[in-house]
Amino acid sequence: MTHNVKFKVKPGGKLSGRIRVPGDKSVSHRSIMLGSLAKGTTHVTGFLEGDDSLATLRAFQDMGVKIDGPNKGNVTIQGVGLRGLKKPNNPLDMGNSGTAMRLMSGILAGQNFDCELIGDASLSKRPMKRVTDPLSKMGANIQTATGGMPPLKMSNGQNLKAIHYDMPMASAQVKSCVLFAGLFAEGTTTVIEPAPTRDHTERMLNGFGYQVTSKKLDDSRSEISLVGGGELTASDIDVPSDISSAAFFMVAGAIAPEANLVIEHVGINPTRTGIIDILKLMGAQISLKNESIVGGEPVADIHIQSSKLKGIHIPEHLVPLAIDEFPVLFVAAAAAEGQTVLTGAEELRVKESDRIQVMVDALVAVGVDAVATEDGMIINGGKQSKQNAVIESHHDHRISMAMTMAGLNAVDDIVIDDCANVNTSFPTFLELANQIGMNVSIVKD
Ligand code: S3P
Repeated sequence: MTHNVKFKVKPGGKLSGRIRVPGDKSVSHRSIMLGSLAKGTTHVTGFLEGDDSLATLRAFQDMGVKIDGPNKGNVTIQGVGLRGLKKPNNPLDMGNSGTAMRLMSGILAGQNFDCELIGDASLSKRPMKRVTDPLSKMGANIQTATGGMPPLKMSNGQNLKAIHYDMPMASAQVKSCVLFAGLFAEGTTTVIEPAPTRDHTERMLNGFGYQVTSKKLDDSRSEISLVGGGELTASDIDVPSDISSAAFFMVAGAIAPEANLVIEHVGINPTRTGIIDILKLMGAQISLKNESIVGGEPVADIHIQSSKLKGIHIPEHLVPLAIDEFPVLFVAAAAAEGQTVLTGAEELRVKESDRIQVMVDALVAVGVDAVATEDGMIINGGKQSKQNAVIESHHDHRISMAMTMAGLNAVDDIVIDDCANVNTSFPTFLELANQIGMNVSIVKD
């Protein structure tokens, strides 16, 4: 979209209905990556047709992989095997997606052709040293812009060496990048994660017949290993709905004065359910129904009703398990009674925007008592007080959507500037918000 899209949200609303949010973004990226690197044909259903996962899809098409779709969430990938990618003619454009750039860098480090990874204004300011450091240790040759930022210029062709990597931060992207590079390296690559992070890469590799072992080292640390030089075998993938997208409607249901919502077929992988645990600790009426396993991932319907939320100190062990949900959790905290304190969440400062500062600014703009700390936030909840608030999304889809939900608890209309970015992860967001009874309209410049 070239024009600026603004959302205008009217306060309040009586929310009800059953909705299905789009496919999981993390699983969608990985389905294209592993489907392309496998031998045989992979059929994907429930694929997220958002800009981020489409950037990954196009990158593999640019490297010679025949991919049909997406068509209503269906994608068919003719895998080329681990050694079958071709040199792209142009730099690979990862758009707004940190996941695409960081995971792809691991795969590309193992190729015998040079290439370049580029991104949009937001991605071009995000740290890539966290992936270029371990990849360099494996023998990759990658140049970045000043400060370790994109673009990544990769001069490939060297044989990668397996590593034993103790990750300095709890990051599924870094873990996945190193494991992907490990597929092309000689020997056993091991990543130690300081706290559990989403494990879709491990699950999907196993689903494609590639053995990955995970071992708990203590209460928080785990060791994940694979041996390079194997083969991936195509396997069909049913992508569950994205819990990170469902989160906006979980919070909407909890904070609206009247609400009764069911969000269907949501992925509830235990490395992603921090949002449910945190909302429960805050007193939300939330429950899971129809639990089942689909394609190696647990799914359930999530039932949420209007709740009297209270402020809490968010347990730090839940932070990596809810890492993408904090913008909307801050909105829940703003509507809760009492104080909410978040600590141990400095990673929020290097997401699509600095989600601590940007959310403090947004909450203060609508009249919430919120203060940023180095690694989190302190919010004193209650009724929002400021009228005519105009919010900046700072190129961050989750700020646009979180602040839309803040409209439920506002005293006046809220306008959110720069919302076309919602298409990166949740193209049907506006439609679903209005379908359940919110009043959100588009204002075009
Ligand atoms: C993701 C991992 C997380 C998350 C991102 C998706 C993934 O990033 O924030 O939206 O798919 O592996 P970090 O690994 O940087 O925490």
